[in-house]
Amino acid sequence: MRAIVYERYGGPEVLELRDVPIPSPGRGQVLIEVVATSINLSDWEGLHGSPGYARIGGLFRPARQILGSDVAGRVVSLGEGVTRFAVGDEVFGDNLALMGGFAEYVVAPESALAPKPSALTFAEASTIPQAGAIASQAVALAEPGSRMLVNGAGGGSGSFMVQLAKSKGVHVTAVDNAGKLDFLRSLGADEVIDYRRVDFTRTGPYDLIVDLVAHRSVFAYRRALAARGRCVIVGGTSRTVLRMVTVGPLLGMLTGAHLGLLIVREGPAAFTPVAEQCVGGGVTVHIDRVFGLDEVPEALAWHGEGRALGKVVVAVGEV
Ligand SMILES: NC(=O)c1ccc[n+]([C@@H]2O[C@H](COP(=O)([O-])OP(=O)(O)OC[C@H]3O[C@@H](n4cnc5c(N)ncnc54)[C@H](OP(=O)(O)O)[C@@H]3O)[C@@H](O)[C@H]2O)c1
Repeated sequence: MRAIVYERYGGPEVLELRDVPIPSPGRGQVLIEVVATSINLSDWEGLHGSPGYARIGGLFRPARQILGSDVAGRVVSLGEGVTRFAVGDEVFGDNLALMGGFAEYVVAPESALAPKPSALTFAEASTIPQAGAIASQAVALAEPGSRMLVNGAGGGSGSFMVQLAKSKGVHVTAVDNAGKLDFLRSLGADEVIDYRRVDFTRTGPYDLIVDLVAHRSVFAYRRALAARGRCVIVGGTSRTVLRMVTVGPLLGMLTGAHLGLLIVREGPAAFTPVAEQCVGGGVTVHIDRVFGLDEVPEALAWHGEGRALGKVVVAVGEV
């Protein structure tokens, strides 16, 4: 099968299109013919091996040589003990543990997958599992009528997050670069901030801050919070993550705020409710661009350099 492979950390230039053996599903796993894979920041982080947590399990060399975790496709064979799926089923899910979606076939545990809603295209379905799970768990922390700020709002998770928060009656301030602010307004954001011009930690106060690309000090986040407000970071620099899980709770105890890391639960229970909202029309999937399998390096660069509005999709089959 054709696959995009890398053997060392680096930029998109370390990726190569190669012919590799089709993997075999083990116990509890299925083999999927990939139709679409969407790109997440975690792919870019896994490519570069940065931040440091992207090297867990592969300190010097990538543990998995094929990236791509959000997949949608058709089941073509079953490993032992698979009970939820049959050959021919259309499925989607986040294969974060095994990766491998930038290929014609991928093996995934059945526990990571859900039946693809027929009303969604493969491309649309592939955008939802990781970003939808992050977005819905962050928005679950917001109360209707409260003030929420999302930093990094113009990307994959943020574009779902803004819409889910608005549908819950939350007042949303969305932060990203200037080129994404009209897009954020179109998603329903009440206020927008260009992070290159305004330091959002000097605005507010907010009841909830969700940072997808965190690199600020815990004191800066605290400054922007309302009394008893909450700040959760989802991704960001290793230093910020470390500070948030060590100094964050202490500062929270002293000031009555809550500061910490959002550990996102993966799996169908986390993302199928978002897919249902997409089918129902309450949430729109925003696909910025679709690339072919041989264009994965360009697709990752497009996404990683921050040019994408919403999600970027790699079409492996007919999406
Ligand atoms: N905690 C968990 O359990 C868990 C699980 C899965 C994934 N994650 C993490 O969750 C995050 C998900 O991100 P995603 O896939 O939504 O990312 P994404 O699609 O890349 O979106 C990130 C957005 O942030 C913007 N941005 C970059 N630097 C910024 C800055 N300094 N200030 C404000 N905005 C900035 C980017 O645009 P520009 O670059 O153009 O500015 C982009 O629009 C990743 O960090 C991933 O590692 C966490």
